[in-house]
Amino acid sequence: MKAQRYIVGNWKMNGTRAMLNEARAIDRAAARLPKVQVAVAPPGTLIFRTRDAVEIIGVGGQDCHVEESGAFTGDISAAMLKDAGADFTIVGHSERRALHAESDAVVKAKAETALAAGLSVIVCVGETEAQRDAGKAEAVVAAQIEGSVPRSEAAAEKLSVAYEPVWAIGTGRVPSTDDVAKMHAKIRESLVGIYGDAGAAVRILYGGSVKAENAAELLAVDEVGGALVGGASLSAESFLAIVGAAASLDES
Ligand code: 13P
Repeated sequence: MKAQRYIVGNWKMNGTRAMLNEARAIDRAAARLPKVQVAVAPPGTLIFRTRDAVEIIGVGGQDCHVEESGAFTGDISAAMLKDAGADFTIVGHSERRALHAESDAVVKAKAETALAAGLSVIVCVGETEAQRDAGKAEAVVAAQIEGSVPRSEAAAEKLSVAYEPVWAIGTGRVPSTDDVAKMHAKIRESLVGIYGDAGAAVRILYGGSVKAENAAELLAVDEVGGALVGGASLSAESFLAIVGAAASLDES
């Protein structure tokens, strides 16, 4: 049996206070499925309220700044996320990398700041379609891992890595389970190379068009320790179907 799977909903720039009802429903159901670790990353405006509304599930940010405070209009620091009640933050999502020009070095600095603030971290990696077509997917992802994961002491314990092929995000397309298995094995190799034995315990999540219909198949793949879910995390019903799929696997 695999270790407790980790199912995380990334709400992206979606959600106003009405979404707290979804968070509450997710929380109530998660309480009945203790074998699955469940979390949501709402927009920054909802972190405090979400924390207040739930009891069991984790609550996280979607990004953080590398500095603790200062003249960075519009940014939120890891310390602020922690103060608002976050347990973790996502860093290096491909939408941040592409739309905010974040390099591996920036992602790594963010991850290290988040750890220093007492947060756990999910570092995202993933190749574009052009990179996959050019046969470079594994090399691209290995380089992202090498450049983006935090190196501070005990980092591995609070780290998850999310493999999200850019071409699978929001498209309804998913890689074959063979391709997911190959990539996750490669990521595991990189993590063990960096952290030694501790790298064997880092959870590697898959993200990109995870839905109720494909969740069981994807979560059963070797080295898939959970899922980072976008669109399907925006309603409790569709998100809980994925959490339920993870829970059923654990029972088998
Ligand atoms: P979708 O599940 O909407 O494809 O998004 C995946 C994602 O980017 C999660 O971070």
